[in-house]
Amino acid sequence: MIITIDGPTASGKSTVARMIAQKLGWYYLGSGYLYRSITYLLMNKFHYTEDALKAPKLDDVCAVTDPHRFHYSYVGNDPVITYDGEDITPYLKNKEMDLLTSVVATNPMVREKLLELQRHIGSKYNVVVEGRDIGSVVFPKADIKFFITAALEERARRWQEYMAEHQYMHYSLNEAANAITERDDRDSHRAHSPLIATADSVIIDNSGLDKEQTLNKMLEIIREKLSLC
Ligand code: DC
Repeated sequence: MIITIDGPTASGKSTVARMIAQKLGWYYLGSGYLYRSITYLLMNKFHYTEDALKAPKLDDVCAVTDPHRFHYSYVGNDPVITYDGEDITPYLKNKEMDLLTSVVATNPMVREKLLELQRHIGSKYNVVVEGRDIGSVVFPKADIKFFITAALEERARRWQEYMAEHQYMHYSLNEAANAITERDDRDSHRAHSPLIATADSVIIDNSGLDKEQTLNKMLEIIREKLSLC
């Protein structure tokens, strides 16, 4: 079975996706980690400049997504990504990766390769998958589809707190709003697999809700749709 969660930056989808996976005892796939990994590997193993990331070469995309070299796993409620056996997970979440990944994610070749990988994982497990095109493109026949969002000011405040706590980087609310708006614009207006809420998605606006309240709201819907107790 598959539950998809799509939504814009800092909507809280990855936090709640992991909580749902843990509650149900399902696998968690954070597809953003896959796009971040490709970006990191092209830059650090294939010496791509920021400019070169706009048009990666097919051979390089094949090399970084080679299933013998690139592995996504979900261990103890955390994703772990390795390449040639090296754990690259610690390098994937920072402001540079945030911005450059939204550029790499516009590339259709990259998306095609990651589509295969995501569907392969979806064929092996009961999975909660979050991203931008999961309900629309990757798993259009998912059992339940959510689209999570929140007001820009609230998402900016969450992003600001995340960056201060995890990256020790301090941004004003204005800077935070600009940073996430730039990414969201790119994710929503690209030609291939843009961020959209499909007609069959349950839309959750979690402005003013904390993560537990969002989780409970979603679990109620999941229990009802999947007839769980
Ligand atoms: O969810 P995230 O912030 O980790 O995603 C990183 C980037 O990857 C973001 O710019 C959107 C992009 N992405 C995407 O295009 N499609 C997905 N399914 C997941 C992420």
